[in-house]
Amino acid sequence: MVNQPDQSAQGEQKYPPLERIPQHVGIIMDGNGRWAKARGLPRTAGHRAGTENLRRVLRAAVEFGIPILTIYAFSTENWGRPSGEVQALLSILERVIDRELAELHAEGVCLRHIGHLERLPARLQQKVRDAIELTRNNRRLILNVAFDYGGRAELVDAIRRIIADGVPAEQVNEELVSRYLYTAELSDPDLIIRTSGEMRISNFLIWQGAYAEFYVTPTLWPDFDKDELYKALVEYNRRQRRFGLVPES
Ligand code: IPE
Ligand code: IPE
Ligand code: MG
Repeated sequence: MVNQPDQSAQGEQKYPPLERIPQHVGIIMDGNGRWAKARGLPRTAGHRAGTENLRRVLRAAVEFGIPILTIYAFSTENWGRPSGEVQALLSILERVIDRELAELHAEGVCLRHIGHLERLPARLQQKVRDAIELTRNNRRLILNVAFDYGGRAELVDAIRRIIADGVPAEQVNEELVSRYLYTAELSDPDLIIRTSGEMRISNFLIWQGAYAEFYVTPTLWPDFDKDELYKALVEYNRRQRRFGLVPES
């Protein structure tokens, strides 16, 4: 699965190596509902298709040499959806763990979770914890799953813990806040991809993504494939990251 550029039938490289590979990519996996609607299917069928798709995107991420992937699977606001859809999303998460964990582990994926676990059914919480524990030493790909995640909730949690730890006001700085976030041990995302054409951040990594390059594709998440990921990486390579400074001469 490592960095082997694909060869087309003509012997040309389909995915020529890129100069810069983002160290951390965030994906807002959006458009499952519209994908289903376009096919006359229930929204949950779209979520299932989106979950199937995850496998190929993970494989592609490893092939392109992306070390950290954070996927937005369920937001704090998504609890407000009809309960049937929420239940379906919870059971999809459970099924993914049941069916895919062994293979993810064998492929060297380190699973992590950001967000809250307490609102999940106790059995599912335990499965998530066990999956994290099992894969904790894997290093091929860190797969950070944002489930019951919201960037604002993350900041509120950080502020509460900073206060609870009795940190003096003058010691509170950006570096300290970052250490109190769910992503404390991870670098900030370099690239955030959103599928389905929506041009908003929807409460995803609002602190960490301050200087992430933002890439939006109209493709709906279940249709987002290796070619699409490569296109996002090509576009990332065209971007000039300035971080508020003047352009390089
Ligand atoms: C993304 O797809 C998955 C979740 C938010 C859980 P949506 O369910 O938001 O799909 P659309 O945006 O309605 O098409
Ligand atoms: C963002 O998508 C959350 C996830 C992809 C999990 P939403 O579909 O919930 O976001 P909005 O409602 O379009 O902003
Ligand atoms: Mg959506």
